[in-house]
Amino acid sequence: MILRELSLSDVEAAARIDRRCFAAWIAYPLEILEECVMSSTCESVGIEEDEVLAGFFIVFYSGPHSAQVVTIDVDPDFRGMGFGKVMMEELENRARQKDIRRMFLQVSVKNYPAQSLYKKFGYHVRRILYHYYGPGYHAYLMEKDLSCAEAASGI
Ligand SMILES: CC(C)(COP(=O)(O)OP(=O)(O)OC[C@H]1O[C@@H](n2cnc3c(N)ncnc32)[C@H](O)[C@@H]1OP(=O)(O)O)[C@@H](O)C(=O)NCCC(=O)NCCS
Repeated sequence: MILRELSLSDVEAAARIDRRCFAAWIAYPLEILEECVMSSTCESVGIEEDEVLAGFFIVFYSGPHSAQVVTIDVDPDFRGMGFGKVMMEELENRARQKDIRRMFLQVSVKNYPAQSLYKKFGYHVRRILYHYYGPGYHAYLMEKDLSCAEAASGI
């Protein structure tokens, strides 16, 4: 597997993966993914297997020492093979190099695989965000202190 920065030519493939990961009203429109890939305040990184984009993550650097996981997606055909863990480690390493101390993310209260991944990496629930994804679709706001030595890696 290879990790590499996403470019504009990857956006269609990334949008396809995002649509396979999320319901239509949650998946990001192509234009938003393009903006993320071009933005200097976002980091968009893909993971490839045999030259096929298998997943990607986007992190938004929201402040001098804080950042937000916009999304982390693994194509259903590539799940359960460790790609999620590799990307979590990569995104945290990149954030630490930028002196990011607090990482935030939102995850559906029903998204147990993602919650399990995040907990393994030391994220904890800060609060519930009611109707975050739409009426009746709640999320947890999760946070990790990246400067804390205790949960440096989930692997
Ligand atoms: C969450 C996601 C990124 C995990 O990717 P993955 O490559 O399958 O994950 P890995 O193989 O690296 O597994 C890492 C950990 O995730 C958790 N996990 C993965 N699949 C799981 C499942 N089906 N059920 C429960 N936990 C699961 C486990 O804690 C696992 O650790 P383990 O292997 O020690 O049990 C993937 O399921 C996905 O893309 N889901 C759809 C998009 C999404 O929900 N993204 C998060 C948005 S908030």
